[in-house]
Amino acid sequence: MNIEFLANFVYIISSILFAFGLKFLGSPVSARKGNILSASGMLLAVLATLASGHIINFQWILIGIIIGAGLGALVAFKAAMTQMPEMIALLHGCGALASVFVDWTAYAVHGAGDLTNTITLYLSIVIGGLTFTGSGIAWGKLSERLPGKPVLFAGQRLVNTGLIASILILGALFILNPSQYNVFLVILVLSLFFGIFLVIPIGGADMPVVISVLNSYSGVVACTTGFVIHNTLLIVVGSIVGANGIILSIIMCKAMNRSITNVLFGSFGAVVKKQGSGEKKEAKAISVEDAFLILENAKSVVIIPGYGLAVAQAQHAVRELGEFLEKNGCDVKYAIHPVAGRMPGHMNVLLAEANISYDQLMEMDAINPLMENTDVTIIIGANDVVNPAARHDKSSPIYGMPIINADKAKTVFVLKRSMATGFAGIENELFYYENTRMIFGDAKQTVQALVAEFKSSHL
Ligand code: TAP
Repeated sequence: MNIEFLANFVYIISSILFAFGLKFLGSPVSARKGNILSASGMLLAVLATLASGHIINFQWILIGIIIGAGLGALVAFKAAMTQMPEMIALLHGCGALASVFVDWTAYAVHGAGDLTNTITLYLSIVIGGLTFTGSGIAWGKLSERLPGKPVLFAGQRLVNTGLIASILILGALFILNPSQYNVFLVILVLSLFFGIFLVIPIGGADMPVVISVLNSYSGVVACTTGFVIHNTLLIVVGSIVGANGIILSIIMCKAMNRSITNVLFGSFGAVVKKQGSGEKKEAKAISVEDAFLILENAKSVVIIPGYGLAVAQAQHAVRELGEFLEKNGCDVKYAIHPVAGRMPGHMNVLLAEANISYDQLMEMDAINPLMENTDVTIIIGANDVVNPAARHDKSSPIYGMPIINADKAKTVFVLKRSMATGFAGIENELFYYENTRMIFGDAKQTVQALVAEFKSSHL
């Protein structure tokens, strides 16, 4: 049995581990196992590649592994849960850049190869280039190092059309005559610019979809790179990531009632802050003590977490509150909006961390029909995902986005620090509804204060 055959055999095992890893990632209960399986698959793949006999000089690889693993571990330990989306954007960008370097090296050392190889090489540097800079811009926007709102300028469409046309024309020239190194470099530079222009006009609430589309692109570029260097595992894994990213993008677009083309090319995020109708509306605040009296008599409570729960790290306090409510004979459920927070599954992860039972977590479609029979909804740091304007106000930028119908409950408590807007930058009419009461303050402190009320009353 030769070493190459053995390496390919290990690649198959790695692919199986990746596929199962992905399957396990589908549920919070098995996600940890999924991560371990996928990481083991990756370790096996790296070892098989190193042993495959194609590598003669290990010292650079060792230096790369030490620097990469060191940086990766440092960032993973340091990053707060709320920084995960920007981390993901950064990692997609790094993956795409690595693929571009591999393609570039393959081209510089071995040339472009036959027609099929040249076409995949071309696709690889275009998609890799735009994914790298696009992810960089997404990272900047999410980490607030760049303005989150869409950057629009006169002639933007013309610039984009010019870039696409140049990339296509130069691509045709390159495929016809692959020995033109200059053309290769110009295509790469134009693709890098295209990534920037593709993402800067997208803003506000659309960033989650952009991240997931870029995730898909990073898979596609790994796949095309696999074709360039004839590596089966890269082709398989790239396809899995590519398909997975597109499916996630579609799910998120559905959750926001948008189409992918509209997200990517519609400048939806060009959110103009609505200034209200002119008349001065007033939100009614309530004290923790009064809120407790209402909660003490509630028979059903739905807790709706949002981004503010993550900021305040209130998940453990929320579990305690839930337990007290249950002890008091109240039915407690947690309503999860698919784009609550700043990354897919953000709320599930936080609530799982606090050991809140999965049986109590309910998806938006399952909880909405129950809202009218709910005594109290407690909205904790959520804003856009409960904004009723999405249902009826055609002029609202979030019109059509499915929301959790928190307003349908008999009483609505909103826990947040101020009247500030959420991610989409729009006012929330729910705060002014007759049945809404604001409890201002940091979510964790407010929930802890409610817990303290329960403790003192039941002691
Ligand atoms: P948002 O609409 O962003 O609202 C979060 C609210 O939390 C803010 O209004 C803020 O109000 C409050 N808050 C912040 N820190 C707080 C603290 N320490 N204590 C209490 N409240 C606090 O959140 P959402 O309802 O979860 O909606 C998510 C939004 O993000 C959507 O527009 C979505 O499209 C977008 N987005 C989602 C994702 C994914 S994949 N989930 C990724 C990127 C963007 P105060 O400042 O007044 O406290």
